[in-house]
This record gives sequence, C-alpha cells and structure tokens, in this order.
Amino acid sequence: VHFCVKSRGAEDANPILINGLKRLEYRGYDSSGICTISDSNKLLIHKTKGKVSELELMISKQSSGSIGIGHTRWATHGAPNNVNAHPHLSNSKKIAIVHNGIIENYRTLKLQLIDKGYTFLSETDSEVLVNLIEEISKKTHSDIETSVRLALREVIGAYGISVISSDEPNKIIVAKNGSPIVIGIGDNEKYISSDATSIAPHVKRVIYLSNSEIATVTATDVIVKSIENVFIPKEIEELSFSIEQIEKGGFPHFMIKEIFEQPESIQNTIRGRIYFENGSGRIQLGGLADYLDRLASAKRFIFCACGTSWHASLVGEYLFEHFTRIPVCVEYASEFRYRNPIIYKDDIVFFISQSGETADTLAALKEAKSKGALTIGICNVVGSSISRETECGVYIHAGPEIGVASTKAFTSQVITLSLIALAIASKRGEISTKLITEYLHELNSIPKKIQNLLSQNSIMQEIAKEFNNASNFLYLGRGFNFPVALEGALKLKEISYIHAEGYPAAELKHGPIALIDEFMPVVFIAIKDSLYPKIISNIEEIKARGGRIIAIASEGDTNIESLAEYVIRVPQIIDFFSPVLTSIPLQLLAYYIAVLRGCDVDQPRNLAKSVTVE
Ligand code: F6R
Repeated sequence: VHFCVKSRGAEDANPILINGLKRLEYRGYDSSGICTISDSNKLLIHKTKGKVSELELMISKQSSGSIGIGHTRWATHGAPNNVNAHPHLSNSKKIAIVHNGIIENYRTLKLQLIDKGYTFLSETDSEVLVNLIEEISKKTHSDIETSVRLALREVIGAYGISVISSDEPNKIIVAKNGSPIVIGIGDNEKYISSDATSIAPHVKRVIYLSNSEIATVTATDVIVKSIENVFIPKEIEELSFSIEQIEKGGFPHFMIKEIFEQPESIQNTIRGRIYFENGSGRIQLGGLADYLDRLASAKRFIFCACGTSWHASLVGEYLFEHFTRIPVCVEYASEFRYRNPIIYKDDIVFFISQSGETADTLAALKEAKSKGALTIGICNVVGSSISRETECGVYIHAGPEIGVASTKAFTSQVITLSLIALAIASKRGEISTKLITEYLHELNSIPKKIQNLLSQNSIMQEIAKEFNNASNFLYLGRGFNFPVALEGALKLKEISYIHAEGYPAAELKHGPIALIDEFMPVVFIAIKDSLYPKIISNIEEIKARGGRIIAIASEGDTNIESLAEYVIRVPQIIDFFSPVLTSIPLQLLAYYIAVLRGCDVDQPRNLAKSVTVE
C-alpha cells in the first residue's frame, strides 16, 4: 500500500496525483483512489478496484482542487474492492486518510468507536484510524494536526499516513512509524510520497521523516514534530537519481530495461570502491571503514533477508566463507525473528534488502539490535528504513528498481557482498595483495562481460518460444551457482506463473529425479568451474531419463553441446563471481516466457515491490 500526495500549489491536483500513483503502482496495484479538496472546501473522493488507469477514466473530466491525497493498495485487511480502497473518509466526511502499514490494535479501537456510534463501510484498519482522529478532534476541539498526533498515541502498529480535513483545507498532515514517508520541497508546492521515485519528476530536494514524526505540510512550509509535540529540525537532502532512471527509456517493461541496465548498475556499485595504487588493488567501503577491525575479528556473520535478497545472501555465504574463513548463517528474515534465535553480542548481522523497507527484515533487525549484535544494512534505496536503523552499511547503488521482479538489485547485491568479503579477507591477511588485485581486475571486467552476454538475447527468445507452454521447470546448479538456480526458478514462477523449482544439482537423485520426463525442461548452470565434471554427470542422469536440457555454459565448452538441447554461453569468469553472469540469462528467460504468456511482467498478480507487512 502506497500513496502520493500534493499540497496546495497553483496546479490542479488530479493529474499530478494520477501520475504519481502510476509511478507507485509497481508497489501495490489491486485498487486505488484519490481525494482532493474542492475550491468550495468539500472533499471529492474517487476510488476503484483495479489499476490506476481505471481510476483515471473515472475522474478524467472532473476538476479538482490543488490539494489531495491518493493511494494504490496491496490488500492486507479486506479484499481488494471499491469499498476497501483508500482514501477512507471519517463518518462526518470531513477528514480523509491514506494509510500504509497495519494498525495492530484496530479491533479494540473499532469496538470503542462503534460504542460511541461510529459506523464503518470497509473492513480496513485505516478507516478505524480516520474515525479515531475525528473522535479526538470532536472530543478535544483540537485542530487536525493535534488530533492526528493524539490519535497516533493510541495506535499500536506501523503506519505511513497522510490526512486532509475540509475544515483546514490548506494543509496535509503526514506521519510515519515503520512505513516510509518522503516530503518533496518545491518553491510553492510540496509533494509527499512513500517512495521518492514518484516525486522525482517534480522536485529534487526532500525531507525523509523518521519514526514517530509528524509533519504539517502546506504549500510553503513543512513543520516536523515528534509525536510528543516537540519541534524537530530536519535536514533537506538531494535526490540521488535522475528522471531517466525511473522511465522505461524505450523498453516495453521496466524489468527488461533493468536487466539491460546491469553493465551500468554494476559499474555504479563498484564506482569509487575499487582503486589501484602502484599496480595493487584496494577496496574502499566508506560505510564500513570504522568497523573493519570488528568485521575482521568476528566469530560469525548472520545474513537476514527475504526472496531474491535471500538468494543473494546465499551467494554471499559462499563468498564470505571462501574469502574470510569466518562462518556465515543465512536466515529467512521472517523465520529468524520468531524462533528465538541465538544471537551473541559479538555476532555481526547483515540485513540485505533492495527496498530497505521489507517488514520481515526490519523485524529481524529489531531482534538483532535488542540482542546487542552489530547490525549492517546492504540496501538499494537510499534513506530507507533498514539503511537508517542499522549501525552502518553499504548502499548497492543499483539505481531505482521498479519492475516487481528483482534483477539488477540481485547482481549489485552479489557484487557488494564480494567487495565486503574481499575487504575483510584482506584485513585478516587471508588473501595476498596479488590475488586481491587479480580479483578486483576481474570485478572491473564484469560490466563488459555482461554487455557481451546480453547480446545473445535472441537465443533466450528462441528458448522462451519453445518452452512457454511448459507447466513445470527445474533449475539446477552447484556451489556458487546453486543459489542462482533458486533465483532462476523464483524469477520464472513470479512473473510467468509457471511452477518452477531450484535444487542443488546433486540433490536431484535423492527425489526430484522422479519428476523427469520429456515434458520437463531442466535448466542447468554448468559453467567450467571446479564442479564442472560433477555437474556434467548430473546432466547425463537427466538426459538418460528423457529430460529436455537447457545449459548455461562457459564460452568455448564444446563438450556440452552433445548433452544439451540449448546452450547459452557466458564469458569465462572466476568461479566465485560467476553468479553475476549466470543469473542474467535466467532473468531473460523468465521475462520472455512471461511476455509470451501475456503476463503483466512489471506487476505480477498478488505481488508487491516492497512487502511492508509481516
Ligand atoms: C523477487 C522479489 C522479492 C524480494 C523480496 C525482498 O523478485 O523481488 O522476492 O526480493 O520481497 O525484498 P527486499 O530486497 O526489498 O527486502
């Protein structure tokens, strides 16, 4: 659930809200709505199930005031329908709210309000909150800012809210606890959103709210206070990305644009972090500089993440253990917190998250902090909650990722983890300067290698044509490429809705081999690494049982042609950096299959870009 808002400037709010919501749609898209304040100070509300384009049709001819709030929803409480869509109005129809997050004690609050005579149209927690604000405003005769502030003191849970009132038609009240809020500062206009990408076309200067802060926003001012009513001076920051980065730039979908951006996004991850002095390579990670001694003397690292970021963490585990010789545990953030994990004070816990807002990962972060461990964020979104709440960290700098299926963030996460592992190994003396130098040259060469790989795009289209009607897929890899098999399967299932499984290749004979028949495409990541002879045996096992084999293989490997029906070549690369290359054909395969199946690639059903609920 996310929203975009504009405060009173000179222009009509509707088109600005609609365009803002379209930019946010990738984060939630089962219903949407807007509410503006008319020139005669009435709330004008429109909402509908479905996409923002449907909302746009409803309101296209209506004039609006110059202040309004809007929302696109990813249902948490209540089905996606017109009634549950945001904004929600209070009983008097004078106050409207858009809300991200979850109010955990909404049932209790709702019963109290029902006792006082309030009625509810929707099943949402957000409608409870707007009526609580109304009740407090009536009871205490307070202005809208005070009423919101007092209401939030009764609320348990996470929220990012925007509230407007027809009694005070020149302002928007916003507050944050858990869900992100960014306020864009224009000369005589202000924009508010849960995601900076949606306001970037209008403003470059922004304020990020922190937890338990509330802001009153008018066309000319932003006043930020704590929920206890103490003024808080805020720093104005510059947005770090350009408009081009959040447009499709001639590509039909964000996902394919982001896949093709990888030479550049990886360059950006590396930029300023690798340098050569008298021929010797060095790594500089500003965000960790003060913590390198602690990292180098750690007894154990824990990586917490979800989804694709969890897969990147698995690659990270191989990289860290290989280079630093310090053990690593990789945890699903959602499981970690709820199993009373053993965390020692001298543990170092990494939180890997593209959005930096994933609720499960944030909850695991709180757990690790409460146990006294050092916490490190590896995020893409600058200023995100995880990047703020960890003690230190490294941004992956992949640039805005809009396609719901994560692609360029994965490869940049792996590169970032490689750099950290090498920096720690070097500090510990586990690796010679000569080897570090060689590896850093190799990292520097990756963008060019990806460019080369992307030029074989047409083979992936051909394979997609052949297999887009399959009902199941298997992805198999070993060593550093086992997590890539998991990631390849996830990409396919989330955007094409084809069932897919990833396995360590050798595990196949312990069960899944029973699935193999002539209808089962099997994707092998079989590059020329130390496990190559083993994976060739695994391919033979599948071939003998009639499975159809697609191989991701090294350039120059002629042996594999006799075994696989299709071969995709990746440039030669040292084993441990190979996931950055081998994952890319799998992203392309998923993309082309999904397109052929007519799926909504950038906004697959039931998914949201950042999952801000646990
Ligand atoms: C898959 C995907 C999700 C995310 C997961 C974690 O393509 O996008 O699996 O990787 O929801 O999100 P972040 O990295 O934002 O914490």
